[in-house]
Amino acid sequence: MGIKFSEVKYSYTYSKKKKDNCYNLEDASLQIDNNDEFICVVGHTGSGKSTLIQHLNLLLKPTFGSIEIKDDDFEYRINGKGKKNNTTLMLKGKKQKLPILKPLRSKIGLVFQFPEYQLFEETVLKDIMFGPKNFSSQKKKEKREEEAKEKAINIANKMQIKDLLDLSPFELSGGQMRRVAIAGILASNPDVLVLDEPTVGLDPIGKKELLNFLKDLNEKDHKTIILVTHDMDVVAEYAKRVIVLNKGKITYDGSKDELFKNNDLLLNNNLDYPSIVLLLKKLKEKLNIKELDEYQYNIDDAFNEIKRWSK
Ligand SMILES: Nc1ncnc2c1ncn2[C@@H]1O[C@H](COP(=O)(O)OP(=O)(O)O)[C@@H](O)[C@H]1O
Ligand SMILES: [Mg+2]
Repeated sequence: MGIKFSEVKYSYTYSKKKKDNCYNLEDASLQIDNNDEFICVVGHTGSGKSTLIQHLNLLLKPTFGSIEIKDDDFEYRINGKGKKNNTTLMLKGKKQKLPILKPLRSKIGLVFQFPEYQLFEETVLKDIMFGPKNFSSQKKKEKREEEAKEKAINIANKMQIKDLLDLSPFELSGGQMRRVAIAGILASNPDVLVLDEPTVGLDPIGKKELLNFLKDLNEKDHKTIILVTHDMDVVAEYAKRVIVLNKGKITYDGSKDELFKNNDLLLNNNLDYPSIVLLLKKLKEKLNIKELDEYQYNIDDAFNEIKRWSK
C-alpha cells in the first residue's frame, strides 16, 4: 500500500466567489509506504486531525491538491478542483468508468470517533458481518453470508468478544461496544487501520487492552496503524512516527524522540510532555542528576534508567 498526499487543501465551506476561503486543512503533504508504520496524529482540538484522516479512505476529497493511493490491485488518483474533483481508478491495470470506492475502503478501514454510535444490527454477530458482506465479491447471497460469518467469528475470537456474538449491541458496556465496532472494521481485513481517538471514554484497563491489541496488529500482522490521539502518553509508548497538526497545517512529521526533545515545537503546537518524561525531567532537576536520560517512554525503561543512575 502506498499513500501520497501532495499539497492537499480542504475547505468545508469552499466557494469560488469568496476571496479569502477558510481552509480547514492546508497544503498537507505526506507519504505512507511501509506496511508496519504506527503513526500517531496529534494536535489541539480543531487542528484538522479528523479532517486529514477522512481523506485516507476518501470520505472527504481534497478541495485542491492531490492524493494517490496504490495497492497491488488498484490505483486511485484524486485531484481537487475547487468544489469539483477528478477521481480516477485503475483496477488491475484497467481504467474504470466509475471510480467506485469499495476496493479502497476494504483495504483502508476507518474507525470514527465514538464508533459505537454506528452499531445498528440486531446482534453483535450481524453487526460485525456487515462490512465483509458488503465488500465481498461473492455473487451468491448464501455464500456471501457464510464467508462473512466466518470472518466475523474469527475476528471475534481474536478480540475476545466471542461470548457477545448473540447479544444485542445495545446490551453491551461502552468498552464492549467500542470493541465490537472496531471488530466490524477489522473483519474485512484491511491493511491500514485508521482510528480517530479510539480510547476516549474508556477506563484505564479497556484503554490499555485496546492499545496493546493495536500494537499486536502492527507488530505481528504488519498492519499500518494510524491513530488520532491527544494523549502524549499514548504517543510515547506506541508511536513509531508522529504527525503534528496545528491550525490545519502539518507542522511536524517524524520520530517521537525528535518531537519530545524539541521544547519549542511542543510549546508552539500546544503539546505536553509525556508524563513519564515530565517526571524524569523533574527528578533530574530537583536532585540535580546531570547524567540521567529523561527520554524514557515506558515505566520499565524509566525504572532501569533510575537504577542505572543510583548505582
Ligand atoms: N462538518 C464540518 N463543517 C464545517 N466545519 C468543520 C466540519 N468539521 C470540522 N470543521 C472545522 O474544521 C476544522 C478542523 O476540524 P477537525 O478536523 O474536526 O479537527 P480535530 O479533529 O483536530 O479536532 C475546525 O475548525 C472545525 O471547526
Ligand atoms: Mg477530531
